[in-house]
Amino acid sequence: MTDAIQVRYSELAESSCCMSCGPAASLCDPTPGQVCVDLGCGRGTDVLRLAEKVGPAGHAYGIDLTEAMLDKARNTARKLGVTNATFLRADLEAIGLPSASADWITSNCVLNHVADKGRAWGEIARILKPGGRFVISDIYAVEPVSAEDRADPQAVAECWAGAVMRHEYLANVAGAGLQDIVITEESAPYRKGRANVASFTLAGRKPAVRKCCG
Ligand SMILES: C[S@@+](CC[C@H](N)C(=O)[O-])C[C@H]1O[C@@H](n2cnc3c(N)ncnc32)[C@H](O)[C@@H]1O
Repeated sequence: MTDAIQVRYSELAESSCCMSCGPAASLCDPTPGQVCVDLGCGRGTDVLRLAEKVGPAGHAYGIDLTEAMLDKARNTARKLGVTNATFLRADLEAIGLPSASADWITSNCVLNHVADKGRAWGEIARILKPGGRFVISDIYAVEPVSAEDRADPQAVAECWAGAVMRHEYLANVAGAGLQDIVITEESAPYRKGRANVASFTLAGRKPAVRKCCG
């Protein structure tokens, strides 16, 4: 699956095609000094905006599978003189950042691509600090995608065949132990490839550490 994804996004790294499906990063509200992570950052536009918000005492990380996307992102950061942004290659099933290191996690139209979504949500919960927050825009399936399409790497790379049903999506988020989950916006169903899908943006947090009262 990931080969087809990297081929598709290596081509898209060179085009001006819009690749997002919601306003996730703009709903993040980090304060100076905080750490933000954009999962599947593409050309890095949201990472650079977040780097500006957290300032020199903070840091923004962009994670992506496709080296061509990361090259674009690093070049833009260099040209703009941004020194508090780092772009790393990783699959969202094994993000490679330390546990409890992120105040904010965002992602836009990426988790639908990931084969083991439960594992990716486990990674999101792992790298968030206690009380850390996430805002994620993505696509879900309005009707189940056929087994044949789900097994088609090209269809998964096109942002529709990897989509799971809404209830499965929310079960993965809750299963990772994340809480206060709010859907901030949601589209009407639309046709993509051979599937009926919809886009939504969800926000939530990792539980804060509770102090023992004993
Ligand atoms: C639809 S684009 C979205 C890019 C960016 N978030 C935006 O809104 O412009 C999906 C991005 O996710 C990356 N991607 C897909 N599957 C991934 C995975 N398993 N792990 C990390 N990145 C992945 C692709 O390389 C691509 O850059």
